[in-house]
Amino acid sequence: MRSPGEWIRAAVRAVPPYTPGEQPADGRRVVKLNTNENPYPPSPAVLRALHDAVDERVRLYPDPEAAALRADAARLYGVPTDAIMAGNGSDELLALLLRALVDPGDRVAFPVPTYSLYATLVALHGATSVELPWRPDWSLPDGIASAGAKVTFLCNPNSPSGTFVPIDRIVELAERVAGVLVVDEAYVDFAPANAIALLGRHRNLVVLRTLSKSYALAGLRVGLAFGDPELLRGLRTVKDSYNLNRLSQAAARAALADQETFRSTVERICRTRARLTAALRAMRYVVPDSHANFVLARRTGVDQGRVARALAARDILVRHFMAYGLADALRITVGTDDEIDALLAALGSIGV
Ligand SMILES: Cc1ncc(COP(=O)(O)O)c(C=O)c1O
Repeated sequence: MRSPGEWIRAAVRAVPPYTPGEQPADGRRVVKLNTNENPYPPSPAVLRALHDAVDERVRLYPDPEAAALRADAARLYGVPTDAIMAGNGSDELLALLLRALVDPGDRVAFPVPTYSLYATLVALHGATSVELPWRPDWSLPDGIASAGAKVTFLCNPNSPSGTFVPIDRIVELAERVAGVLVVDEAYVDFAPANAIALLGRHRNLVVLRTLSKSYALAGLRVGLAFGDPELLRGLRTVKDSYNLNRLSQAAARAALADQETFRSTVERICRTRARLTAALRAMRYVVPDSHANFVLARRTGVDQGRVARALAARDILVRHFMAYGLADALRITVGTDDEIDALLAALGSIGV
């Protein structure tokens, strides 16, 4: 059996390199298309709410239950307040789910390639990842429902592919898995449908959302878990008391309240995504239809590490993965139109 030190070393190897979000001080302008942040600012109401929240009240702990934020989210999504839990980013909620549900040796299943944090967290808990390759058309792998897993993760839309599993397939999966099904909808606001409406009917379903992507709040770390109230009560018992700070709670409420900014930003990103996809396909990349704020561009059998490094030398950052046979692919976040023009021009001059 692995020692805790070995689990940690195994997990740490899976953590992607961090690249700072701020522009360098020397005046260079870095085009950051590697971590799926929103290229547009959050609602102006968010900045006002932050400003208003900065006063002597910062000496007080925040509401441990984030009750006001959860009540706002409950109204917006049409679910009961006790079916929502707020977290310090959806990453915290993923960690809490494993902390609450998984013991060493338990099985945790997910299709691969997918969000790398799942395998990292599973390793940290001494559990076993059951990694099932997506089918060539990015539909659910055979055997995912019968993997004997305590927890099954489905990232939908999936990262890094941007592909989308239809909701009726998720219903089947929720009915067939023995344990808890966690549908990670970090990117679902860029997709045609979502799984929130399934919640009342499937008590083993947890849906995760983040305000990092579509609401442009990655720096404030706000995630929401939707699920059975009893399961969420269990999750709350293993969280830090004050897991979401008061500024983030205020900002998240303002972000959710401004649906107009949210919608227009999402539409803008989806328009740019269509243009980026078409341009990459014209360059002979294979690009699955993306339902997220990034695309996966592949030149079958042609290593893209060279291209990623050449782009980085031009201060354009994209993501290149070595694992899961993805060395011939780049994951590119949908930036502003100007950023995507710069990327396409650079790809043209590098030669892909
Ligand atoms: C699939 C997926 N889930 C969750 C997260 C984490 O989001 P958050 O910023 O809310 O922790 C990410 C971030 O990139 C992601 O890609």
